[in-house]
Amino acid sequence: MTTSRRKSYAELRSARWYGATDLRSFGHRSRTKQMGYDAADYGGKPVIGIINTWSDMNSCHAHLRDRAEEVKRGVLQAGGFPVEMPAMSLGEAFMKPSTMMYRNLLAMETEELLRANPIDGAVLLGGCDKTVPALVMGAASMNLPTIFVPAGPMLRGNWHGQPLGSGSDVWKYWAELRAGKIDEEDWREIEDGIARSAGTCMTMGTASTMAAMVEVLGLTLPGASSIPAVDSSHSRLAAASGRRIVEMVWEDLKASAILTKAAFDNAVTTLMAIGGSTNAVIHLVAMAGRVGIDLPLDRFDALSRTTPFLANIRPSGKYLMEDFYYAGGLRALLRQLGGKLDTRCLSVNGKSLGENIARAEIYNNDVIRTPDSALRAEGGLAVLRGNLAPDGAVIKPAAMEERLLRHRGKAVVFRDYNDMAARIDDPALEVTADSVLVLQNAGPQGGPGMPEWGQLPIPKKLLKEGVRDMVRISDARMSGTSYGACVLHVAPESFIGGPLALVREGDVIELDVPERRLHLAVAAEELAQRKAAWRAPPRKFERSYGALFSAHIGQADRGCDFDFLAGAAPVPEPEIH
Ligand code: FES
Repeated sequence: MTTSRRKSYAELRSARWYGATDLRSFGHRSRTKQMGYDAADYGGKPVIGIINTWSDMNSCHAHLRDRAEEVKRGVLQAGGFPVEMPAMSLGEAFMKPSTMMYRNLLAMETEELLRANPIDGAVLLGGCDKTVPALVMGAASMNLPTIFVPAGPMLRGNWHGQPLGSGSDVWKYWAELRAGKIDEEDWREIEDGIARSAGTCMTMGTASTMAAMVEVLGLTLPGASSIPAVDSSHSRLAAASGRRIVEMVWEDLKASAILTKAAFDNAVTTLMAIGGSTNAVIHLVAMAGRVGIDLPLDRFDALSRTTPFLANIRPSGKYLMEDFYYAGGLRALLRQLGGKLDTRCLSVNGKSLGENIARAEIYNNDVIRTPDSALRAEGGLAVLRGNLAPDGAVIKPAAMEERLLRHRGKAVVFRDYNDMAARIDDPALEVTADSVLVLQNAGPQGGPGMPEWGQLPIPKKLLKEGVRDMVRISDARMSGTSYGACVLHVAPESFIGGPLALVREGDVIELDVPERRLHLAVAAEELAQRKAAWRAPPRKFERSYGALFSAHIGQADRGCDFDFLAGAAPVPEPEIH
């Protein structure tokens, strides 16, 4: 599948820095020698940039220094010159208000690191949620030969002999603690046992989902996304990726040859089959936008209706990513999708998707289901529309109580997160199990950055009555490890005057997931009056990155990219003088 013509050294980008005989190239060579290298290290060789999002503030990436060294080993084996370039890490557990606010900043940094330096090919090291789309978006814009090495999931958690899943079991046991079913000592033991190794959340949260997305898109070596972070296979994956990227440079196998419309359809189909994170909808739209591919929300819904849900992984299923790996991993699941995938799509190893999954087998058919034993006949996500979300909203039917798929209830409205936090457990709050909890001003601009607030907590008094799920609506996101009848990503957002801003206490809201409908049962004339009276909240930022973010961020249905970064316009090469 790869092109047969190989590039010459003179055609490499890096030859412009190293191969000339002028004053500037003297500087490039002498400064490389300053680091202890000589011409035998870099001369006539592709320069491979390893973009590493290791950080002490990103526990999921604790092993990425080691992986960078292993990638370097592979690059050297194949005759390349590896250089490591640290990039901003987006540690989901620590960054506030949301890593989503910084996804586009890391994407810009990735693009500029690759553009401004003498890089011929890129190896991207990331995994914690937003690092994956950010690295891919920047690299896709730069369009060099690129391989992604996903950080890999951490080991299963453990408490009293029971497996614990990242996020999912935090939400579950937090509710049990608030309901008085477990005590503080239990809660502390869970804290000790839920994160046992380096690696990303080991549920099918955003990290595992996005790793699966980059694999099915063709940006990783086959099987990469399922390998646990601390398995020795993961080290071998890193070295193999280092070897392969050197060949990709000579073959001139660029990201644009891999990131095709058919590859994105494959990714959306896979997202539905794994019951993946709602966040992936935003990221795939943004990633596709960087290569000029329009990926509307309706495409997600269309493919969801025809794709069986096969991955029995929390939060929508029972098992964890370690089980998924032992059961055959993503390749085994993809093989089950058969004709639903375009298996002609090209991967970084130069082979087709079909070739890469041809021998994959399921070793545990409860973890990875076949279409005949699917968990649901349809995919894990659905796109809703209606007068409350004219530009769309997303829900995860695979991870909510069935009784709420069709629901009608009165709104309990919180104007922002602080209002919600202050009142949600107030015994005087007028709320029942049939109420619809509405959170405003939590979107791209309003959050800012769409924080993962969309899984609003169940009011304590209802928890004590045994209620564990309610319809909740917001323009926020929710963690991919979360579950519940949460309508997310409502667009346009309330902060800019979307209809969600017009909802008032006691309004009736109708949710119909099978019909894909989200309706505010208030007369159009009344809504027009409310809209006329609506006033925009004050700006969130006056300076720095926040001001840039507010001025250029797009809405959720368009992937939340910056307007000046979206699209496939070629990135100009720097002048060298
Ligand atoms: Fe890093 Fe979940 S916190 S992947």
